[in-house]
Amino acid sequence: MISAKEFPKVVGTGNTVVLRNGKRARVVLLNNAATTPPFESTLDTINAFMRTYGALHRGAGPHANITYQKVEHAMRALRRFLAVGDDHALLFTQNTSAAVNLFIRLLRLQADDVIITTNIEHTSNNLPWRFNSPARTVYADCFADGGLDYADLERKVKENGKHLRLIAITAASNLTGYIPDMARIAKLAHQHNAILFVDAAQYAPHRRIDMQGQGIDALAFSAHKVYAPFGLGVLAVPKTILDAEPVDPGGGSIDMISDDSVIWAPPSSRHQTGTWNVTGIIAAAASCETIMNTGWDAIVGHERELVRYAARELSQVPGITMYVPPDKYSSEDRIGTFSFNLLGYHHALVSAILENEYGIETRAGTICNHRLVHGWVNVDAKTQKSIEREIMAGDRLASYGIVRASLCLHNTRQDIDDLVAALKSIAANGPQLQYKPVPSEEIYICAEDGDTPLPVTVHATGREFVNA
Ligand SMILES: Cc1ncc(COP(=O)(O)O)c(C=O)c1O
Repeated sequence: MISAKEFPKVVGTGNTVVLRNGKRARVVLLNNAATTPPFESTLDTINAFMRTYGALHRGAGPHANITYQKVEHAMRALRRFLAVGDDHALLFTQNTSAAVNLFIRLLRLQADDVIITTNIEHTSNNLPWRFNSPARTVYADCFADGGLDYADLERKVKENGKHLRLIAITAASNLTGYIPDMARIAKLAHQHNAILFVDAAQYAPHRRIDMQGQGIDALAFSAHKVYAPFGLGVLAVPKTILDAEPVDPGGGSIDMISDDSVIWAPPSSRHQTGTWNVTGIIAAAASCETIMNTGWDAIVGHERELVRYAARELSQVPGITMYVPPDKYSSEDRIGTFSFNLLGYHHALVSAILENEYGIETRAGTICNHRLVHGWVNVDAKTQKSIEREIMAGDRLASYGIVRASLCLHNTRQDIDDLVAALKSIAANGPQLQYKPVPSEEIYICAEDGDTPLPVTVHATGREFVNA
């Protein structure tokens, strides 16, 4: 097993930046749950590929042929990465969100069908079911630490009986790092002849996916979260749902067309409308191969150690609220995603201070997981309405939220130490610069000379956020 020192190089990990105070600082990459920078080797692969880039499925010639061979190789690598059989097709979209939207339309559900999803989902595994299908969406509950309430899930599956068509669940939470027991959920879905769809956007860079072994029927993930940011979503679906007409017909969908008849292309290609994102496919496969060659045992071992360390160290910051109790990161298998707030500070202000004064990348907000955050901040119905009114009036900072720090294989203890030292310094001394809110963007930025001093911000939930 290789050590973390021998892990593949990730672009940008050695970068420095000149801060507002004129000091140079290392850029600390702790926003990996949003997106990961590419592997150096993936950039090399793409550079080499560009030298013979050609038309895929749309021409003949030496470059077209090389491109075809490389895409075929890439598709085999992606299949290995997912451990998915020949009874499944891979479809390519722009990202996971687009993949979920395509999948729901491919299913062609009816009004009396039921989809069960959960209260731990990212909105990309929630809104498509609600708004892109006539089926009824039912939510299984979760606990405050982000863990799934299996008893509630089982109850809801039973209640919906023969109407249940689909269970849609994330493989790892984008706010708590929680990893549901997929084999258990697959069994439940299949006992009721339902399909199990898995949103693997967060899981894919951290744990081995085994669609066949875990009983996953359909799955989506994004290349930009597996060190290959070239605009690709991957959707693996059973071929049995591809026999019908394409939901987005266009170039590539047909073999023959006349005024009164259409011969659709074979099922696996008729749904792949338009020119394929071959650069994205080759980059995604290159990164997935790099991950597989590095070895999951080495990656998981390194990340688990780091996750336990980060949980312990973060919990020592005075005034921090960690929404997942720190010990959960050692008693359970969770990926390195930490949601927190710092007493007295708006979440977006904390992220702005970390950026401007320390060169640390994080993300703040509800981060597409409003249900979980709503539960954490304990907002009553009246306050919720007043927050909604303020947001609709243009103050997006009126929203409650959290700060998220998230780890990937390139992170080190030093990254955690830098974050923890910065948070301790903010807690003890406040920010060293003046900030001003930009409500329309839901961010804080550094105030310029001549800006009026920032007033105390009173959050709609009643908590005060003071810009010291
Ligand atoms: C769990 C989860 N699902 C889906 C998505 C959506 O991914 P994309 O932005 O690539 O569509 C994300 C993005 O952060 C995510 O964390």
